[in-house]
Amino acid sequence: MTQVHPHPHARQPGDQPPAGQPHGHAHHHADLDWATEGPRLVREAEVYQPVTEQVLDWLRDQLAATGRQPGAVRRVLDIGSGPGVATCLLAEAFPEAEVVAVDAAQPLLDLTAERAARRGLGGRVSTLLADLPDGVAGAGPEEAGRVVAGIGEADLVWSRKVLHHVGDQGDIVRRLARALRPGGLMALTEGGLPLRFLPRDFGLGRPGLQARLTTATEDRFDGMRAGLPGSTRVVEDWAGLLTEAGLREAASRSFLLDLPAPLGADGRAYLASALSRFQEHAPELLGVEDAAVLDQLLDPENPEGIARRPDAFVLTAETVHTARA
Ligand SMILES: C[S@@+](CC[C@H](N)C(=O)[O-])C[C@H]1O[C@@H](n2cnc3c(N)ncnc32)[C@H](O)[C@@H]1O
Repeated sequence: MTQVHPHPHARQPGDQPPAGQPHGHAHHHADLDWATEGPRLVREAEVYQPVTEQVLDWLRDQLAATGRQPGAVRRVLDIGSGPGVATCLLAEAFPEAEVVAVDAAQPLLDLTAERAARRGLGGRVSTLLADLPDGVAGAGPEEAGRVVAGIGEADLVWSRKVLHHVGDQGDIVRRLARALRPGGLMALTEGGLPLRFLPRDFGLGRPGLQARLTTATEDRFDGMRAGLPGSTRVVEDWAGLLTEAGLREAASRSFLLDLPAPLGADGRAYLASALSRFQEHAPELLGVEDAAVLDQLLDPENPEGIARRPDAFVLTAETVHTARA
């Protein structure tokens, strides 16, 4: 596992909704309306930026090992790009590439275009509205069912925390694999470790709240998946799914995000944002005692809340699965 110590002034909001409510898609029995999730997704992706940079180094090494220098990467697809934090990092990591941000939420694609323009990347970053698994509206019907219609070819297909929102995860991996040029690389971020952010006993309520949040997350995640169109149960062995899709040299590696206490303002804001996802349904999800503790943790004035207590931290990991065409 690779440990990441972010720059002390790096933004710290994180990504993985610790107990994150399952993310739904607007058309897909939405648990979440992605279009309004922009600020939260930016905060999450920015806290993970040090991890993403390490992942990109790993991908560049893999490409170089087979004779493909970063400059030989000409087209990159960021599948389910959200507000475009990683899209811009991809454009910076592959300076000769056109990077296409693909997402089903136009407001997030608009944020991506604005972010790319602010960073001087507008000429190489473009956006494409597409609803997985079907693809881009108006793309040739002959493609439907075999590929994600209309997304074209790529030297690198990147997708972080998106494919679990698609009903048939095996099918979407197969479709995306067909977008890869010979020798191209697929990199899927799925799984990892749940977020930890406080000691087991942090002095409020019954010890073990984090484990109960994790259980609640798993249950909601399962409910989210069951509600997706074409929901199909597969063994979530991503390396296996990449291999079944005809790709080779599948590999998985996990990257640690370790922001120790005392957290800076960004780390605290990230935790508050992640925990607030539970607040509305906390009594049903966790029971009244834990719900009351959550309220205390989220009270910005409470000295024992996330905003002020000295012992809050961010510790989590994400796993990246790669394979080549
Ligand atoms: C958890 S966010 C991840 C965003 C980004 N990849 C990141 O790492 O910050 C999931 C993204 O997938 C998009 N998404 C979810 N279901 C989708 C679908 N069926 N087709 C296209 N995009 C989808 C959402 O709009 C959202 O932007």
